[in-house]
Amino acid sequence: MTDLTPSSWVVSAGRSRRPGEPLNVAPVLASNFYLPSDRIYTRGEGTTTSEAFEEVVGGLEGGRALAFSSGMAAVAAVLHRLPVGAVLAVPEDPYHGVAGLCEEGEAQGRWTVLRLDLADTAAWIEAATTADLLWLESPANPLITVADLPAICGAPRKPGTIVAVDSTFATPLVQRPLDFGADVVMHSATKFLGGHSDLLGGLLVTRDIELHEELDHRRKLTGAIIGAMEAFLATRGVRTLALRMDRAQHNAMILAERLEGHPEISRVRYPGLPSHDTHEVARSFMTGYGAMMSFETAGTGERAGKVCEVAELINHATSLGGIESTMERRAVIPGQETIPPTLIRFSVGCEDVEDLWADLDRALRVTRG
Ligand SMILES: Cc1ncc(COP(=O)(O)O)c(C=O)c1O
Repeated sequence: MTDLTPSSWVVSAGRSRRPGEPLNVAPVLASNFYLPSDRIYTRGEGTTTSEAFEEVVGGLEGGRALAFSSGMAAVAAVLHRLPVGAVLAVPEDPYHGVAGLCEEGEAQGRWTVLRLDLADTAAWIEAATTADLLWLESPANPLITVADLPAICGAPRKPGTIVAVDSTFATPLVQRPLDFGADVVMHSATKFLGGHSDLLGGLLVTRDIELHEELDHRRKLTGAIIGAMEAFLATRGVRTLALRMDRAQHNAMILAERLEGHPEISRVRYPGLPSHDTHEVARSFMTGYGAMMSFETAGTGERAGKVCEVAELINHATSLGGIESTMERRAVIPGQETIPPTLIRFSVGCEDVEDLWADLDRALRVTRG
């Protein structure tokens, strides 16, 4: 089934197809297995449930996947393989968990951290010749900046330098960083891949067998493998990824255009809008613009917070990538004070776009000063 389109692959991959076995991948609630066997203990070898989820996402990304207990567990596996004295390049404003790990490593004297503007492609290309790890996040939290992945991942590097891409906001249906030369793709499966805000999970996808084995070993040592129920839910959730992404991206484009013309909005950031700082870069290689945007309301930060509170259909919640829309004012998150005070990050879901628009418009009208 290697030549299937991604939307058929997500529906069909990872199934056993053996007569008498269930169509759906069942949750294998087991830590221990009868010996002799290649599968000894779940922390090391996983189960058929985690393997099914890995098969689906690995195939989508064009590599081999390892499923973790959360996105941050997956991030930590990549960062903590760096030796003492390593240099790592990260975006100026990465996901705050990643920022926290970098700060900790820096404070302990473990690493030197270069913080680069994601949109400054030349700076990343330069860093590839000196740093040991380039950690990219694209599109990025929360300004939805798109990095020029083909240029950066394909740039000449110092021998041994690893390029990793947090592709959580994009999903493999919108970009495949390994095709551009990245070594590792990371996902918080908690978001679009799981798609239902009911699990925590993470993934690392690689093509290089040695790197895969090293990360697998690290996962085993740290006990960071995904749980059986999470792998089951994630596999069930990912089956509808293509449907959800089609609908959510369609909604996002319409809402971004309408918000841009709304008198109560001062700025909209969505890579699909020609006004977005990195629209041209996004257009050059992404096959969609994703379902994440942020917008700034007129008035104060307090007013922006009220917009989130009074919306009835759009859920006031921090996480993203679910079938349901969510929004949150990001400047309230500790460590995110540099973010514009009225910026609301909006994860567009699969509700009817007219209902979403009516909800937003009402929330903006009733909070008008
Ligand atoms: C872009 C991005 N990367 C990584 C993470 C961390 O993932 P998790 O919450 O699954 O640990 C998140 C979570 O919000 C995220 O948005």
